[in-house]
Amino acid sequence: MGKIVKWFGVILAGVVIIILLAGSGLYSAGAKRLKVTYTVPASTVAVPTDATSIGSGKHLVTVHCTSCHGVKLEGDTVFTSPPLGTITAPSIAGGRGKYGTTLSDVELVRAIRHGVGIDGKPLFVMPSGSFYYFTDNDLGNIIGYIRSVEPLDITMPVTRITPLGIALYTAGMFGDLINAENIDHTAPRPAVVEPGVTVEYGDYQVRVGECRVCHGPQLAGGKDPNPDAPPAPNLTRGGNLGGWSETDFIQTMRSGVNPSGHQLTEFMPWKFFGQMTDDELKAVWLYLQSLPPLETTK
Ligand code: HEC
Ligand code: HEC
Repeated sequence: MGKIVKWFGVILAGVVIIILLAGSGLYSAGAKRLKVTYTVPASTVAVPTDATSIGSGKHLVTVHCTSCHGVKLEGDTVFTSPPLGTITAPSIAGGRGKYGTTLSDVELVRAIRHGVGIDGKPLFVMPSGSFYYFTDNDLGNIIGYIRSVEPLDITMPVTRITPLGIALYTAGMFGDLINAENIDHTAPRPAVVEPGVTVEYGDYQVRVGECRVCHGPQLAGGKDPNPDAPPAPNLTRGGNLGGWSETDFIQTMRSGVNPSGHQLTEFMPWKFFGQMTDDELKAVWLYLQSLPPLETTK
């Protein structure tokens, strides 16, 4: 009996050591990825100051940025859990970033389009893989609006992830949150897409709208990176949307209640995407309906 207990203890200790070693290996691999310095060729876009452009920048920022950076761009906590860490989106009002300095246009373009901070390090969670697709015109309007907002004297605690959080991230638990890793920083810009109620413009809206981050690379169902979120449903005709009309879709995006009466949780940022214009939502609908009806990804 004593022997069995002893061997059991040895095996248990072995298992714990293996888990700790694997965990620390994952931690150091992840920590290294967060410390990579990216060199992104300096580029900028024309930044307008006229009211119409600022207005359209405000619209884009409301739909695409305020869910994380706050309605007044005052900054917000995106995720917090003591064992895993705290992720904060800094105040960006006036173009002032997380270290309290005012970012130049080149630095703003690098942050928004490439997911790289002023220190050359990757910005964690900031969805630049999607924003990469913003045309020069849309990005210029976004920056024009950000600059038009009075800077706020807010310094928030910067993003901190615990070693456990980093190890689990490296193990692939939360999807791709280091967007800079998956962007080709020197590729020629994608072709410009003209606004309109077209499949092409819907494709553009779905790209810049980060729909794939949660609904999966094929939009056939996926998982929000937040571990507390419910599955993100299939958006092709293979899912519920196969039986919806355009009106059903727009109403769901605007009200957060789908045609079966299900209230969507806030993990789906419908309060923000629901502020897209009718034409933008109609284009998204056209694009989603143009996709082959895929079976829901499990
Ligand atoms: C899903 C949440 C999320 C959304 C949506 C988002 N951001 Fe961010 N953003 C972040 C986080 C988190 C950081 C800080 C990352 C870090 O410190 O590693 C950040 C950082 C930034 C920075 C860099 C600030 C600095 O001090 O270097 C800029 C600029 C920025 N975001 C602009 C935008 C703009 C413009 C939009 C909309 C087009 C946007 N963000 C949408 C989460 C988000
Ligand atoms: C941050 C993650 C996230 C992003 C980004 C996101 N969604 Fe969602 N979405 C969800 C989740 C999670 C649900 C399910 C919510 C629930 O049932 O509580 C959902 C539900 C939906 C539904 C309801 C589907 C049904 O069968 O009832 C639609 C429609 C939808 N999303 C469209 C979109 C579109 C279009 C985009 C891009 C513009 C988008 N979503 C971006 C997470 C996301």
